[in-house]
Amino acid sequence: MAHEPGLDAQHDRRCDDPVILNQWHPVAAIGEIPPAAVKETLLLGEPIAYTRGDDGAPVVWRVEHTEVGETPIPEEGRRLPARTKFGYLWTSIGSPPARLFSLPEVDEPGRIVHNAITIGINVSAPRAVENFLDVAHLAFVHPGSLGEEPHTEIRDYEVRTVDGDIWASDILLYQPRMAAESTSAGVAEYIYRVPHPHCAVLYKRTETASDRMDIYAGFVHALSEERIRLHLFDCVVEGNATAGDVRRFVQTIVGQDKSILENQNPRRLPLDPRAETPVRADKSSIAYRRYLTEIGLNYGVIRAQE
Ligand SMILES: [Fe+2]
Repeated sequence: MAHEPGLDAQHDRRCDDPVILNQWHPVAAIGEIPPAAVKETLLLGEPIAYTRGDDGAPVVWRVEHTEVGETPIPEEGRRLPARTKFGYLWTSIGSPPARLFSLPEVDEPGRIVHNAITIGINVSAPRAVENFLDVAHLAFVHPGSLGEEPHTEIRDYEVRTVDGDIWASDILLYQPRMAAESTSAGVAEYIYRVPHPHCAVLYKRTETASDRMDIYAGFVHALSEERIRLHLFDCVVEGNATAGDVRRFVQTIVGQDKSILENQNPRRLPLDPRAETPVRADKSSIAYRRYLTEIGLNYGVIRAQE
């Protein structure tokens, strides 16, 4: 049985929040699960194990720690729901909806589609999603690529909710290096979407004339309330950069975010809009906090006093 590093079920509070228990959760890039290997991890504080069956289909189950030695793959009735989407294994320890959000661009020809990185971060899932949505930090945390001083002013942009998803659009950002293949600075157009409490999608236009946007998404696997594994998904239009270039570009960005995220205090996300100073660039962050308040999420957040 292969354990994820640093797991300690004793110290991770189990989740009793139905809002997040009853969601699909991304636990691994399917192509990175070795054949016949059984991996053990946590999901919302619960020990689970997963593997790929003889037919390649993923199998997930709850681990009973009273068992000694290898955990056998249980019969079908004792397995957890499992599905493959965007190249990831998704599961649930509750009753997940029939539908998981879609990204039609994934099936378009001429795109590089892969998991750029899966990285463990000591922070709550909502903090990681909020960081993904926060344009104000780009110039300070990713200087030389996604931003640069003194270009710190963020022009106003639109935030709305469509069919339950948050959309933030018309975000224009000066960036020294917009993408892996960029050779000069330019203005990137961002559209953010939040289709799931633990997932955020960035649509990014780096060529003004292009009608196709690159997609980068953060799919967060909550190991526990304050520890995650972040899967960074790329679905970018093929150009001059190789898949390796795209992966290295994204890995550098995520590495910069990891240290910022691990210094967040508190690690759970405060939902009270007065808890942390709002600025205009945080408009999408404010919308995300409001959305989490409205759906009634308790796990990984600090709810406003009612
Ligand atoms: Fe960042």
